[in-house]
Amino acid sequence: MADEVKRIGVMVGREWSWPPAFIEEVNKRDAGVVAEFLKIGGTRMNEANPYAVIVDRISHEIPYYRTYLKNAVLQGTIVINNPFWWSADDKFFGACLLDKLGIKHAKTVALPSHSYVDGVVTESLRNLTYPIPWDEHVAYLGGFPLILKPAWGGGFKSVYKVHNLEELWKAYNETGTECMVLQQFIDWDNYARCLCIGQTEILPIKFDANRPWPHRYVVDDHFLAPDLRQQVIEWAMKINQALGYDMNTVEFAIKDDVPYAIDFTNPAPDFEITSLTDAYFPWVVQKMADLCIDLALGKRWRSQARPEWSSLIYG
Ligand SMILES: Nc1ncnc2c1ncn2[C@@H]1O[C@H](COP(=O)(O)OP(=O)(O)O)[C@@H](O)[C@H]1O
Ligand SMILES: [Mg+2]
Repeated sequence: MADEVKRIGVMVGREWSWPPAFIEEVNKRDAGVVAEFLKIGGTRMNEANPYAVIVDRISHEIPYYRTYLKNAVLQGTIVINNPFWWSADDKFFGACLLDKLGIKHAKTVALPSHSYVDGVVTESLRNLTYPIPWDEHVAYLGGFPLILKPAWGGGFKSVYKVHNLEELWKAYNETGTECMVLQQFIDWDNYARCLCIGQTEILPIKFDANRPWPHRYVVDDHFLAPDLRQQVIEWAMKINQALGYDMNTVEFAIKDDVPYAIDFTNPAPDFEITSLTDAYFPWVVQKMADLCIDLALGKRWRSQARPEWSSLIYG
């Protein structure tokens, strides 16, 4: 009897180019795996999941999708990216983790929020010292300029470059309930954004944050000297292995040939052809198809169940 066809479900937001290209690529390979957009309208507890693999491009914006995906993992589906880790990670933890791994990272301080949701009153904040010792933090970071940005950030939102305490306070006063990090500014002379698939496939691309969207990826395959390129690839692999992400972009600000990791928790990275251009778009389509087909067929494996509950359920 022929093996049952395996299914890959795709969850997307408004992106238009990558999802249909990926689905077409998987289906045309005729590998015993079919890909399709998944549809849901309410989930029963322990509902079986029909997909071997789900590619999640949007659960950061649709909380119901995230909760659906956690149940999917419990049913044995492999979700790219792991919804538990995605819920847990933030830029400050990432900074600490990289430092432990021996990967260069801009020095970083996590800050108490500027303000709080209704109902949080002075007595609720008894564990916080007040005022924040700004001078000590700035001294630890090596002085201005500094970057102030959200610990749970994305899409360049609320990223401030500040040159003195007045600018820092003005920016901080705009950040509301957001938990922010304050970070050493790397005065880069080169910048790499690495597309990362399956933890080991790494494509470093020259990235110019000063250009207008969506034209920030620059096609230049020689922008890194071979040794530096190798270093960036090795660090990107290590970062993805440590974080457990199979679909990510990892950014390095490079100064005097030293790469500093800047932003490496992008579990739904921009895959649009308008950003990646014809030069790099086919790569993410191919590599994601390779990965997801292998995962669906059991040729690669990811353990996403949390050990605490999986040992109680499965022994
Ligand atoms: N420590 C830093 N030093 C220099 N530039 C930075 C630093 N942090 C952020 N940036 C700049 O700001 C941009 C957005 O910050 P990033 O951490 O990537 O946030 P997001 O998650 O919103 O993309 C980066 O691409 C980089 O150009
Ligand atoms: Mg970024």
